[in-house]
Amino acid sequence: MTSEMRSRIIGTGKYQAQRILSNADLEKLVDTSDEWIRERTGIRERRLATEDVASSDMAAHALQEALQMAGKQPNDLDMIICGTVTPDRMLPATAAYVQKKIGASNHCASFDLSAACAGFIYGLSAADAYIKSGKAKTVAVIGTELLSRFMDWGDRNTCILFGDGAGAVVLTADTADRGILSTHQYTNAELTELLKIPAGGSLQPASPETVAANQHCIQMEGREVFRYAVRYLSSAAMTAVETNGKTPDDVNLVVAHQANLRILEGVSQRVKIPMERFVLNLEYYGNTSSASIPIALDEANRAGRIREDDILLMLALGGGISWGSALIKW
Ligand code: COA
Repeated sequence: MTSEMRSRIIGTGKYQAQRILSNADLEKLVDTSDEWIRERTGIRERRLATEDVASSDMAAHALQEALQMAGKQPNDLDMIICGTVTPDRMLPATAAYVQKKIGASNHCASFDLSAACAGFIYGLSAADAYIKSGKAKTVAVIGTELLSRFMDWGDRNTCILFGDGAGAVVLTADTADRGILSTHQYTNAELTELLKIPAGGSLQPASPETVAANQHCIQMEGREVFRYAVRYLSSAAMTAVETNGKTPDDVNLVVAHQANLRILEGVSQRVKIPMERFVLNLEYYGNTSSASIPIALDEANRAGRIREDDILLMLALGGGISWGSALIKW
């Protein structure tokens, strides 16, 4: 019997930003404390990119690592999907710069995808659909974020949370009984105002006034986002396992968006998957938005924490509010 065509992750990679900004460093910038940040978020430090680095540089590095692990060449790629809310430029796509930097050929279609912290799950889902439809065979999905350039360093509600970085995977069509089992995506568009960068787009173009008022920086209603995050991520987790006729017990590893330890503890309690099965690195990176899942995946993968046939549950939620899940048999 021939098995169904699946998209399988065959390589992972990451870019680790060079500078470390500790909670103690932040105490010098805003009225906060190491203790407050650790207790409320689980974050100890975050990494920031140096001035000479753009989102596409981090993405290209992560993708090169993923290609190397996959045993693929840049020219093998049919598509580069780049999740980012911090593109190199408004135009063209960051993915096009990534294509140039890795030296992939013109037959590769490269585009960005905007789903904030859910960008990697949305990208994975798009890649899976292209692969399953036969339109693409080998696809790169990247999350790359240089959030430090869009941060109001005087706003303690946001500046303590975020960090820079990139992660990438290479997927290929495979007839083996392994790979992406399902993806689910959702958006509650009543909640667009909870998490945003107000200015710099067509609604509120950049002007001296918007820049002076830091309106090109992230604004967030943290408490509200937190509430929805626990509820929506838990529900997406249950949908992912139930769709595949599985239970939370079957999940070997949860690779969730690394926003806040307490959010993940809330999800863990609700869906009854113990915290030991969650990959956690937010302590050292903070929230790297769409990059957080592929970075955590790469670290777990290279640490030998994922075995063949393991069931991985991916979960993410971010601005939109958009969220989603992916269930993968490794
Ligand atoms: N240091 C010290 N105090 C701070 C602070 C900081 N960095 N940030 C906020 N506070 C204060 C608030 O001003 C508030 O004071 P008040 O009661 O006098 O008004 C108090 O701490 C509690 O604020 P609150 O917002 O209720 O805290 P919280 O427990 O909800 O934690 C977040 C705040 C941001 C850590 C939390 O809401 C969160 O993580 N939300 C989700 C954010 C997220 O992950 N977003 C991205 C999703 S992709």
